[in-house]
Amino acid sequence: MSIAKKQYKRITVKTLVEMKANNEKIAMLTAYDYTMAKIVDHAGIDIILVGDSASNVMAGHETTLPITLDQMIYHAQSVVRAIERCLVVVDLPFGTYQGNSRKALESAIRIMKETGGHAVKLEGGKEISESISRILTAGIPVMGHLGLTPQSIYKFGTYTVRAKEEEEAKKLIADAKLLEKIGCFSIVLEKVPAKLAEKVAKIVSIPIIGIDAGAEVDGQVLVMHDMLGMTYEFNPRFLRRYLNLYDEMTEAFQNYIKDVKNKNFPNDKEQY
Ligand code: KIV
Repeated sequence: MSIAKKQYKRITVKTLVEMKANNEKIAMLTAYDYTMAKIVDHAGIDIILVGDSASNVMAGHETTLPITLDQMIYHAQSVVRAIERCLVVVDLPFGTYQGNSRKALESAIRIMKETGGHAVKLEGGKEISESISRILTAGIPVMGHLGLTPQSIYKFGTYTVRAKEEEEAKKLIADAKLLEKIGCFSIVLEKVPAKLAEKVAKIVSIPIIGIDAGAEVDGQVLVMHDMLGMTYEFNPRFLRRYLNLYDEMTEAFQNYIKDVKNKNFPNDKEQY
C-alpha cells in the first residue's frame, strides 16, 4: 500500500499539485482494460494513463499513430469501470487535436462524456497551445507531454533521447513554462537528459512525470506491459522489469497444453 493511499482517499488534479508541494512522488502506470485497471488501482497507483501506447501493446501496431478516438474511448470506458481511487488520464490520439482547436475540444468532450475519465493528455508545446487552451475553457483538465512525443515519430526519425542540444532544450523549457501558464495540471516528460528534466521540474510548479527522464522529477510513469516483462523485445536502459511475465505465462500456457494433450485436465475433481 502506498503512502499516498493512506493520505488521499481519491486522487484529483489538485491532489497531484499538493503532492508535488509536499515532495511526495507520483506513481503512474498505463492500463487499457478492466481487469488490469482494477489490480493497479487496488495496489494504490496515483494515476492510470489510458495511453495511446494501446496501439502498440494491445493492437500490435508499430507506432501510436493508427489508434482511433473510438478505440481509445473503448479502452478508457473499460478502465473507468474498474477504478475506485486513482485519477484516470486519457490520451487524445493522433489526428484528433493537432491544427484544429475546435476538433480538439470535440475530441476531449467525447472522451469526458463517453468514458467518465478525469483528464486528457496531448503531445506537444506551443504548436498545440491553442487546442489546449480551448479544451481548458470547457473545464477539462489537461496533462501535457513534452520531450519524445511518439505521435511525431516520423518527424524525429528515431526513438533516441530528445533535447540533448541547447536549442531544443531551450524550446522544451519554454514549452513547459507555457503549458503551466495556460493551465495544464501536469506534464509528462519523455526521454530527455536527467539534468534537463530536473531543471524543468524545479522551474514549474506543476508536477513533472518522467519516463526515461531520471529520478529528479515529481513522479514516474511506465507502460504496464513493459514493467511486467510481457514485452521481451523492448529493452531500453530505463526500463525496470518488476516481473518476467512473458516467461511465466509461457510456462503456464505450456503446462495447460501438456495437461490437455496428456488427458490430465480436467481431473475427477474438476468435473460434475
Ligand atoms: O501512451 C503512453 O503510454 C504514454 C506514456 C509513454 C507516457 O504516453
